Parts: sequence; C-alpha cells; structure tokens
Amino acid sequence: MTNAAYIPEALADVPRASWPRHIAIIMDGNGRWARSRGLPRIEGHRRGAESVRCVTEECAKLGLKQLTLFAFSSENWRRPRDEVNALMDLYRKFLIEQRPTILKNHVRFVPIGRRDDIPAEVLAEADRTVELSAKATGLTLCLAVNYGSRGEIADAARSLATRAARGELDPATIDEETFASALNTAGMPDPDLLIRTAGEMRLSNFLLWQLSYAELWVTPRLWPEFRQPDLHAAMRDFAGRERRFGGLEPATNA
Ligand code: FPP
Repeated sequence: MTNAAYIPEALADVPRASWPRHIAIIMDGNGRWARSRGLPRIEGHRRGAESVRCVTEECAKLGLKQLTLFAFSSENWRRPRDEVNALMDLYRKFLIEQRPTILKNHVRFVPIGRRDDIPAEVLAEADRTVELSAKATGLTLCLAVNYGSRGEIADAARSLATRAARGELDPATIDEETFASALNTAGMPDPDLLIRTAGEMRLSNFLLWQLSYAELWVTPRLWPEFRQPDLHAAMRDFAGRERRFGGLEPATNA
C-alpha cells in the first residue's frame, strides 16, 4: 500500500524528505523473548514472524522504497536441526500466508542469499512470490535467507575474476559500481538506516559493503515485541542525524 497521504502521528513533524528510503533490520532477541517466558525458542521465532508482518505492512503504508530483513544467516545452520527446520517451515508458511497481502499492497518480494541447502519447498514458495510480485511498484521486501556478507563479497570477486579470465571484462575497469553490480543486491539502493534489536552492537556479517554509510539505530526491544512505534522512533532519530558521507556539508536525503 503506497499511500503518500499516510503520515503517522509520531512522524507528523518530520519532513518526508528526511525519512529513510531504505531500512535494513537485524532481527534479534527471539530466543531471549521466548526464554524469559519459559517458552521454546521456536515460539520466539513465531512471534518474530508476526513482527515481520507488522513492520512490512507499515513500511509499505509509509511508502518507503525498501525494507531488508536478516532472516537467516549463513552461520545459522550451526543451530540445532529442530530449530533450523522450524525456521525454514516458518519462512514457507509466511510466504504462503502473506502472499495475498504482499500482492494487495504492491510489495515486490526479492530474496537474497545462497540457494544451496534451502529446502526445495521453501525455494518454490519464494520463487512463486518473486514471480507474482515482479511488477509491483511499491515497497521492495528483501529477505536475506542463508545470507552472509563475506560469502557474498567472495562470490562477487569470483564472478568478476571469471569474466576477466574469459576476456569479457577488462580488470582495469572494475570500480565500486562494477563491484556492487556483482553483489546479491545489484540494482538496489544502499540502506539509509540499520536497525538492530535486542541491544547488540554488531553487524554480524550483514550487508558489510552496502551499510558503509548507513546510520545505525540499536534498541533494547526484543524483535518479537518490535512494533510500529519502534519503527517510527527509529525513523525520527534518523531524520535528526547529519549525514555528510565523508564531506563537510550535510547531504540532503533526496
Ligand atoms: C535472531 O534471534 C533471529 C533469527 C536468527 C531468525 C529471525 C527469524 C524471524 C524473525 C522469524 C521468521 C521470519 C520470517 C521472515 C517469517 P535469536 O534466535 O538469535 O535470539 P537470541 O539471540 O535471543 O537467542
């Protein structure tokens, strides 16, 4: 739902031009949320999926360009098999249950990360959602699953080197733009704002190239409890930051 007229109360005095266009989120604290209630970890992930739904709908309503969510890292395979299976099943169900809302709200779905090891039934639902939402012009929802930034950068280097070895690419022409176009995020804008929940002050191998100039906002709120007011608070804080991109003058966020 791209609705230029929708401005929540909390953002009423924040000019739209200073809102972030692309928000990335490291969703953390599902396990802690469950543990503090004496529940199994998967209950935290289930409730976390509800936060994903709320935040995606809100970003679409606000008319933001992109929301990128770190849903499963290339290191998360080290978790117990039961938890990994439950997470994969949650993604599959999320894609099936949320597909009508995604399409109704003109959200374009674009997953990133390696396809290897992701169960075929999850890939099938993801591919179907990508296909059906390909022409949507509202929010881009980018879900990072089996994603790790160092692996992504190594893959990009390998693909450029292969093209150079075949004589298809002159190594002297490789610049930042060429490199960015070989990443999973080719064609996407860099995130303006990175939100991390559960108080951790780490990047955890997430979008290391793309976050170079992002503003960071960390909240103690655990992801299963993250809702619209937290998103608005992060956006307000972002709007007050002075972004200079290494120069001396503040840049406009246009
Ligand atoms: C981190 O919490 C969260 C994850 C590793 C997975 C994120 C998954 C979801 C939000 C649910 C499903 C998502 C979708 C897109 C349907 P943690 O388990 O590391 O928490 P802890 O650090 O408190 O243990």
